[in-house]
Amino acid sequence: MQSTVIAPSILSANFAKLGEEVDAVLASGADWVHFDVMDNHYVPNLTIGPMVCEALRKHGVTAPIDVHLMVEPVDRIIPDFAKAGASMITFHPEASRHVHRTIQLIKSHGCQAGLVLNPATPVDVLDWVLEEIDMVLLMSVNPGFGGQSFIPSALDKLRQVRAMIDRSGKPIRLEIDGGVKADNIGEIAAAGADTFVAGSAIFNAPGAAEHGYADVIERMK
Ligand code: DX5
Ligand code: ZN
Repeated sequence: MQSTVIAPSILSANFAKLGEEVDAVLASGADWVHFDVMDNHYVPNLTIGPMVCEALRKHGVTAPIDVHLMVEPVDRIIPDFAKAGASMITFHPEASRHVHRTIQLIKSHGCQAGLVLNPATPVDVLDWVLEEIDMVLLMSVNPGFGGQSFIPSALDKLRQVRAMIDRSGKPIRLEIDGGVKADNIGEIAAAGADTFVAGSAIFNAPGAAEHGYADVIERMK
């Protein structure tokens, strides 16, 4: 099992002061920055692209930036994110014609690669590529928006993928994204996740505006 990682999703941050928001969560104990890229095509929402990733690097962010691509097609944006400072890039198999090729493309640009499975996507898409990837990201909400409720069937899926990863013997991370909160993160961890994305639970935590994010991140850890 890998070390525990808390990756705040900046989808719920205040975009008018994004640099300060990212500095604040990292200073409060967060490990990574989760960067949600939406194209109003693969998902019904539109967010941020490589320029914003690059701006965070220029601002001085040195923590890993975990780029979650919810775009279709996916291949042509990958080199731009690698240049912009992405550390790892995850994509949805539905958004790629050639999943194995997209994984190789990400790795050829020096980034770690991961596959993202939607709530209804079967785990068998991992069968022939698991050993090629650095991370599996399981969606516990349908992608597109922050602030949705955790879909309980994700717990069984976590247990299944945890078993697959353990069988592989490879240091592959198991990340969970959607509806993760301080009060359900324990059972999510027990089901096998080691890397936890949380957007609204961190950025909209009660009292965060006055006291910052350390309390909620500490409780999650
Ligand atoms: C949804 C995104 C998530 C989102 C999670 O498509 O991939 O990263 O920000 O938000 P919460 O933690 O509020 O469910
Ligand atoms: Zn995400």
